[in-house]
Amino acid sequence: MSDLTVKVLSKRQEAQDIASFELGREDGGPLPAFSAGSHVDVHVPGGLVRQYSLCNDAGETHRYRIAVLRDAKTRGGSAGMHDTVKEGDLITISEPRNHFALVHAQRTVLLAGGIGITPLLCMAQRLHAIDSDFDLHYCTRSAERTAFRDEILAAPFAGRVKFHFDDGDSKQKLDLLDALGKQDPGTHLYVCGPTGFIEHVTQTAQGLGWTAGQIHLEYFGAAPQDTTGDRPFEVKLASSGKLVPVAADQTVVQALAAHGVEVLTSCEQGVCGTCITRVLDGECDHRDLYFTDEEKARHDQFTPCCSRAKSSVLVLDL
Ligand code: FES
Repeated sequence: MSDLTVKVLSKRQEAQDIASFELGREDGGPLPAFSAGSHVDVHVPGGLVRQYSLCNDAGETHRYRIAVLRDAKTRGGSAGMHDTVKEGDLITISEPRNHFALVHAQRTVLLAGGIGITPLLCMAQRLHAIDSDFDLHYCTRSAERTAFRDEILAAPFAGRVKFHFDDGDSKQKLDLLDALGKQDPGTHLYVCGPTGFIEHVTQTAQGLGWTAGQIHLEYFGAAPQDTTGDRPFEVKLASSGKLVPVAADQTVVQALAAHGVEVLTSCEQGVCGTCITRVLDGECDHRDLYFTDEEKARHDQFTPCCSRAKSSVLVLDL
């Protein structure tokens, strides 16, 4: 998939610590089409690549809109977008990809935590456009940190949206059981937000009998990893039989690069799937947020940017 050079058509402060960027072609021509739930990889200042969901109407071809939370806890990227990138700049992005697509459902429940609103706003626009039954619950710390609040309040689907502020009174807090409603095979749930939020929602839904096929997730960052127990292991290149040692404090990608084997990466956090490599033998220690539990259990592919080995050797299809 080829990269695109796009122009920052506008930059807006949408809420405290959240800026949106409208991106378009320099010549004003149409951009590649996308569907609700899509994201683009953005080459951000500092040589990093970050994924951002598109949060405009998927019917639009003149712009992509992304929103970026300034996050002091992550490894950079968001600060560069806030402090360096300005209107008129040219930046490089990928074509849109969708790992979080809407499926046809009788009813859809959208649950957003913070900046996790971005793909779900696009979904709300789409579900409204096709006259599908849905509810959107949007949880944030406060009204000041709620991006697109005025836009949502003015939208034709505003009656389907409930805002929940952590600092608001108890009556407006998210009642998850009420939001999920009756478990019904025709209902699908989409949840995007911080790891803890996603885990709380999915565990509650599973406890109520929702199946894995009805629950769709998108994390916007890597889950925190406990690396204290990491130990060295080896990867074997199937093509040559060469054994490459991976130190306890090294990723597989880093170890391979030190031996002249480049694996293409993007997020380096187990989120995007760019680095997926086939595993021919051995047991993976999956650390990604990309694969489903069933896919992980097969141990036939892994994300070497962050995942490791439980066995002493992993044989890779390289
Ligand atoms: Fe994104 Fe490995 S680089 S999952």
